[in-house]
Amino acid sequence: MPTVSQDDLLELVDAALAADYTRVRRAGSKIAGELDDENAARALRALIRRKGVPLRASGYAESLPVDGKSRLPLIEEQPWPTTPVFLSDTNGAVVTSFLEDVRNADLLSSKGLSTRLSMLLAGPPGTGKTLLAGHVAAQLGRPLYTVRLDSVISSLLGDTAKNIRSIFDFVPAREAVLFIDEMDAVAKVRDDRHELGELKRVVNTVIQGLDSLDDRAVVLAATNHPQLLDPAIWRRFPYKVDLGLPDASARADLWRHFLFEGNVVAEQLTQALAAVAEGLSGADIQNIALSARRHAALAGGSVDAGSVVWAVLQSRKGQLTLPTRLGVPADHRKELALHLSGAAVKAIDIARLLGVTRQTVGAYLKETGRAA
Ligand SMILES: Nc1ncnc2c1ncn2[C@@H]1O[C@H](COP(=O)(O)OP(=O)(O)O)[C@@H](O)[C@H]1O
Ligand SMILES: [Mg+2]
Repeated sequence: MPTVSQDDLLELVDAALAADYTRVRRAGSKIAGELDDENAARALRALIRRKGVPLRASGYAESLPVDGKSRLPLIEEQPWPTTPVFLSDTNGAVVTSFLEDVRNADLLSSKGLSTRLSMLLAGPPGTGKTLLAGHVAAQLGRPLYTVRLDSVISSLLGDTAKNIRSIFDFVPAREAVLFIDEMDAVAKVRDDRHELGELKRVVNTVIQGLDSLDDRAVVLAATNHPQLLDPAIWRRFPYKVDLGLPDASARADLWRHFLFEGNVVAEQLTQALAAVAEGLSGADIQNIALSARRHAALAGGSVDAGSVVWAVLQSRKGQLTLPTRLGVPADHRKELALHLSGAAVKAIDIARLLGVTRQTVGAYLKETGRAA
């Protein structure tokens, strides 16, 4: 066993987390000296000597472009996501072909078939646009640089164009994925300031920026309001993914992952929840599921599916409602049974969800003229 001192290990981790590259090297060399295994020590020294440090470890953070006045960063590097993204088959196919085109950019360009490597992600809030951008970056093994146009634009009038330019000047030098989040902020300029002249300037600067990037630059943009985007911007994104609200099969995936942690025993329940959760976003489903699991964990029991269904139905009325510790209020069970039955959930599953007998469900439905 190597006898690396605890202090040196702590120093190494501390330096790494501070992205202090010089200290990482120093601590690494010291540890190499402590290793008994000569091969391991040599390998470690080789690592330390290597030039071209990966971006995320090189302490580059100080060099991110900032707003001249506020000194706030215009771009943030975001970590790759740790949870999966669930896409419809159509969207999955678009993303796959985008990734293939990026990976084979040189080959395609040698055959005169290159295209802009830019993809527009459209969809309502909470449908996984930011998450998907992270997955694209992770798949390509590149850092994800997120620009929030709304923060870039909220600065002083004349500085906006300067900010946008410094973002595009910064990016080509790095093998990265540039993610322009809240692209519709460009359209918001029009609403907020009634100033067409300024809007035009901002849009033009973004377009110039996009056009100035080299062929191999990967750009993603997200918007909640694709119809508001300027057609000239729209045209510059040959790949389009319309995320929309999740369909029944994506909803089932989301419940399976966030509520049941992939447990197949709960399959019927999953299907029932997927049926009732129509109209909810992925983020809504995640929030409801995690809240239910927190209650279960604190109560030392299992998830109360009835209270999840109840929260889903309440949320469908427009405002996200989380499940409560109290479960389904008794006087709402009938209402819930009707809803579930309307969503084609079988009586036996309704009984399980509500924690009542099959006969009770039958009685609820009969009372209101529905056969069980
Ligand atoms: N299609 C999806 N697949 C998996 N998780 C999703 C999906 N949509 C939303 N989520 C969950 O909701 C969270 C918020 O989604 P986000 O990507 O921030 O949405 P958007 O950027 O579209 O507003 C994600 O981090 C993820 O946990
Ligand atoms: Mg987002």
